[in-house]
Amino acid sequence: MNFLSTALLAILLTISTSAKNNEKNIYDEIYRPQFHFTPEKNWHNDPNGLVFYDNEYHMFYQYNPNGNEWGYMHWGHTISTDLVHWQHFPIALYPDEESTDKEKCTAFSGSAIVDEQNLLNKQTNDTKTLVAFYTSQHCGQRMAYSTDKGRTWKKYEGNPIIPFDEKDDARDPKVIWHEESEKWIMVLYRKQNEEENSKGVSFYTSNNLIDWKWESHIAGFYECPDLVKFTVTNRPDEVKWVLFDGDGSYLMGSFDGKTFAPESAKLKSDWGKNYYATQTWSNIPQSDGRVIQIAWMRDGKFPDMPFNGQMSFPCELRLTKFDSGYKLIRKPVSEIELLHDKQYTWENKNVIPGINDNKLKKVSGDCLHIIGEFDLKTADNFGFMLRHSNKATGTEILYNVKRGTLSVLGCTVPLPAVNNKIKLEILLDRSSIEIFANDGQAVISNCFTPDEKATDAVLFTNGGELGVDKLDVYKMKSIYED
Ligand code: FRU
Repeated sequence: MNFLSTALLAILLTISTSAKNNEKNIYDEIYRPQFHFTPEKNWHNDPNGLVFYDNEYHMFYQYNPNGNEWGYMHWGHTISTDLVHWQHFPIALYPDEESTDKEKCTAFSGSAIVDEQNLLNKQTNDTKTLVAFYTSQHCGQRMAYSTDKGRTWKKYEGNPIIPFDEKDDARDPKVIWHEESEKWIMVLYRKQNEEENSKGVSFYTSNNLIDWKWESHIAGFYECPDLVKFTVTNRPDEVKWVLFDGDGSYLMGSFDGKTFAPESAKLKSDWGKNYYATQTWSNIPQSDGRVIQIAWMRDGKFPDMPFNGQMSFPCELRLTKFDSGYKLIRKPVSEIELLHDKQYTWENKNVIPGINDNKLKKVSGDCLHIIGEFDLKTADNFGFMLRHSNKATGTEILYNVKRGTLSVLGCTVPLPAVNNKIKLEILLDRSSIEIFANDGQAVISNCFTPDEKATDAVLFTNGGELGVDKLDVYKMKSIYED
């Protein structure tokens, strides 16, 4: 090899290494979630158009391609085959009427379904048409469709399907199939009359996805509604309908295809600061049968990041009958296990007060999945310190035995012990902590901005002894690793 070719090779090597480093840096920033969805750059909010088709989970999302703040909404698009790894796709929906305005005719939130019966008559081969329903802000409820598995989208030529009405502020259509009445149902956030307290959910029906008839209205809801049929987990013969509000809180009841009849008070679903604009996937095959929900982690802070926002981890919802009544439980989808790396396990151990007994001494990291069952024994309180270091106080997760409450980052949820035991499942990512307590009966989802260098984890007890019946801690692989 002569001098020139050696020099050329050196230059090429440098270019390729620095390209690789740059590539790594893009998804390796200090507050870049490593197993929660984020777009590469810019602002995003609500998940939209969640639909499963041909082994792909589609997720669209409110996206501003112009910058790191809200406005100029488009539908961004990502696809996953396992609810964990997400591949980025080009923008699916652009504002209508070629609008370049920050709001007017921009593509606000909505949903998507599979047009099984080819009602729109757009299908060209065996591939079913995907149909998206969205709000064109101040330009009515509209429809778009894709005949190539979501890769490209066309706006429906007869838009809007529900015209804009300046009085009702309608938005966020979620469309579902109602087997019993063989009709499509749209739940739409809107104001029923001039009164502020008439804000709620309107129910519409359609036979053809194009013509929609208003049927009824229920007040007391705000933005991003969802309507889901559940079989009660521990009473397989019982079916209930759940109407979700934008913050994931819900009413349980019955639904006859036209009217929702509540059978419960409105129940809170998340006790954290950052769970919003929830939506469930449509068209999940019966063989799977899960109800899978995701949310935007609203109000998270991502200082100096190229992106602004993150999604929650996808969760499975189940409706369960307890002595106290029916309740939704929410747990991370089992696919999370695909990301498990090194595992640490403890069984039947005791923890005593004082930092010298920290079982997690060897565990450190910014991405962990912690699953534990604890016996309260004589403890006054116990918990974890995560993202801790000698120099920076970490984030405390605290169970207070006397009060029967679980707290983290200024949020507290009532959590009665069961047989003097508490179960905690914790997802720690670079900018969020989600805690699922007592098998998903109480959930807290929060964003945070921990100290970059603090990666210690501590398990502590105060006032007395704590039993660790079982504790598994997994280091999490990054979804960008491959
Ligand atoms: C909820 C929401 C929706 C609206 C969208 C606009 O976060 O306000 O009601 O469609 O965001 O981005």
